[in-house]
Amino acid sequence: MYDIDKIRADFPILSRTVYNRPLVYLDNGATTQKPRCVVEAMTEEYYSVNANVHRGVHFLSQKATELHEASRETVRSFINAQSINEIVFTRGTTESINLLASCFGDAFMNEGDEVIVSVMEHHSNIVPWQLLAERKGIKLRVIPMTDSGVLMLDEYEKLFNDRTRIVSVAHVSNVLGTVNPIKEMVRIAHAHGVPVLVDGAQSTPHFAVDMQLLDCDFFAFSAHKIYGPTGVGVLYGKEKWLDKLPPYQGGGEMIKNVSFEKTTFNELPYKFEAGTPDYIGTHALAVALDYVSKIGMDSIYSHERELTSYAMQQMQQIDGIRIFGTAADKDAVISFLVGNIHHLDMGTLLDRLGIAVRTGHHCAEPLMSRLGIEGTVRASFALYNTKEEVDILVAGIKRVASMF
Ligand code: ALA
Repeated sequence: MYDIDKIRADFPILSRTVYNRPLVYLDNGATTQKPRCVVEAMTEEYYSVNANVHRGVHFLSQKATELHEASRETVRSFINAQSINEIVFTRGTTESINLLASCFGDAFMNEGDEVIVSVMEHHSNIVPWQLLAERKGIKLRVIPMTDSGVLMLDEYEKLFNDRTRIVSVAHVSNVLGTVNPIKEMVRIAHAHGVPVLVDGAQSTPHFAVDMQLLDCDFFAFSAHKIYGPTGVGVLYGKEKWLDKLPPYQGGGEMIKNVSFEKTTFNELPYKFEAGTPDYIGTHALAVALDYVSKIGMDSIYSHERELTSYAMQQMQQIDGIRIFGTAADKDAVISFLVGNIHHLDMGTLLDRLGIAVRTGHHCAEPLMSRLGIEGTVRASFALYNTKEEVDILVAGIKRVASMF
């Protein structure tokens, strides 16, 4: 039984008003709200445990280290990785992808080598590769999509050649909601001997992800999009790959021994974690993962899918609406435009009605070019959203449209 009232009561911010109207928060693709347990875990740790991890023999340092390392195990189990050595804590998906592009590029890519990305990538899965292109002369190859926002797998397969070194692709598009067929894409890449990095920022909050099932080589996600704190993320990597990569940043914690003559590096995953980690944040991430696990990722998935199809049905009836992204396997994201109304005007006027949506190019300018538009209005759902909120959104869009 999905007890939506009980769930909503866990999120204090949902009961606030904006402009004297109840808040309808539909910008979950950008960041999710935090349940009380996550915020309290952070406060509690600062109040009664705080000490630097891995460094102290004293009681508090050991306690903080235990919480931090227990969080690594929570993440491992949540994504079904084989070992905690495969879980690297980062500042978020963006840093995870930058880390991988930089380290993988240094180890395995030379001038003329190629990375395959897709046309629906977020800038954070384009620009790190472009930086590598400038540094090392590598090339980007781009998987095209259909008008409904589905990646063309036959074209994908044609992009492989003897210079292809890695595929880096979104699990779920932050604009279209398309769930890409990662398992199949990994199978194709592996048949060509090529590893795959999956940007899981927009999938992890919405359905169970399983590293053994997907068989991808690397996977990145952010805590703040799955009800955890900002500034923390994860890079998963198969041990056999992480072992072969050079460190990303130098500093404390990532070394075994340092001398001016020679420095040796720490074992996995610490080799990639220079400096004091955000141990309060990693613990809070684990609390967030326990929170969603307790509700059940499958229940969250069913609730959000039902909400998304209901919203699609209702929104498709609005005069002059264009919805971008109509894949059969579509996640909890709806991007749209109505008539000639500028996305910024629609977003600003919806805001005055208490409805928070995102407007603009959503950090996916190449996708906007493909769609022939400058931006969209985007409503994105989370586990606490309701059909009543969808109704308020639909009524809001109609009201704004009638003003133009
Ligand atoms: N990547 C986030 C979004 O799509 C910020 O809104």
